[in-house]
Amino acid sequence: MDAKEMKTALVTGAGMGIGLACAEAFARAGYITILADINEPKEQAARLMAEGHQAVAYRIDVSDTQAVKEMIDWIVSNYGHLDAAHNNAGIQTPQRPMAEITDDEFDRTVAVDLKGVWNCMRYEILQMLKQGQGAIVNTSSAGGVVGFPGQAAYIACKHAVLGLTKTAAIDYAGRGIRINAVCPGVIQTAMVDELILRNPALEQMFTKDIPAGRLGKPEEIADAVLWLCSPQASYMNGQGLIVDGGITV
Ligand code: NAI
Repeated sequence: MDAKEMKTALVTGAGMGIGLACAEAFARAGYITILADINEPKEQAARLMAEGHQAVAYRIDVSDTQAVKEMIDWIVSNYGHLDAAHNNAGIQTPQRPMAEITDDEFDRTVAVDLKGVWNCMRYEILQMLKQGQGAIVNTSSAGGVVGFPGQAAYIACKHAVLGLTKTAAIDYAGRGIRINAVCPGVIQTAMVDELILRNPALEQMFTKDIPAGRLGKPEEIADAVLWLCSPQASYMNGQGLIVDGGITV
C-alpha cells in the first residue's frame, strides 16, 4: 500500500510504558506510527521497522507549544494526514502532601500533564477539521475521577484532562472528530515502579485494593486506546474509559 494511503497515528510519551505499548499496537494494526517523546525513541521505532511495520521516532517536549505545532506540520507534510492521536506523555509530581509541593513542581506538572495535552489537541484538531475526520485519545487516569494521596498537582491535571476532553468533544461533535480519554488504574510501568520504590507499602496496598488482584499491563491500556480510535467505537465521544481492574468501583 502507498504510504499516503496508510492511516497515521501519533503517540506522545511513546518511549516507554503505556505510550510504547500503544505505539506498538498502532504500528502492528497497520498505522504509520509516530513515536514522539522527550527522549527520542529511535531504538523503539527501529524495532518496529525491523518487525516490518511503519514507525518513526520524533523528539518533542509536549509543553513547548511551537514545537508541537511544528511536529503536526511535519507529520502532515510527510504523510498528508493525521488519523489518530494519543496524547499520553505525562510526569508525576514528587510524592508529598499538597501544601509541600513547590511552585516550580506544580508549574512543571501542569506544563506537561495539562498544557502538553492542550498543545497537542489544538493542532491535531485543526488538522483533523481540514480532513473532516480523526480520533483523539487523551491519557487521564483513574486518578482523574478520584483522589490519590501525595499527588495533588498530578491528580488535578488528570481531572482537568477529562474536562478538556469532554468540552472539546462537544465543541467539535458532528464534524468527523471523536475525542475521548482513557483512565488507566495502576499499571506496571517505570512511573509506578518509582512510586513503589519510594513507598514500598504501596505495592501491597495496590494489590489489596484492586479487585482484579494485580496491577494492569500497558498492553491492556493499548487495547482500549486502539479500540477508541477504531470505527468500532464510532459512537464513543467525550468519554473517559476507565481501565483499572475495578479499583474505582
Ligand atoms: P512512564 O514514566 O513510564 O512514561 C512516560 C513517557 O513520557 C516517558 O517515555 C517520558 O520520556 C515521556 N515524557 C515525559 N515528559 C515528556 C514531555 N514533556 N514531552 C514528551 N514526552 C515526555 O509513564 P507511564 O506510566 O507509561 O504513563 C503514561 C501516561 O499514563 C502518563 O500520562 C501517566 O500520567 C498516565 N497514567 C499512568 C498510570 C500508571 O499506573 N502507570 C496510571 C494512570 C495514568
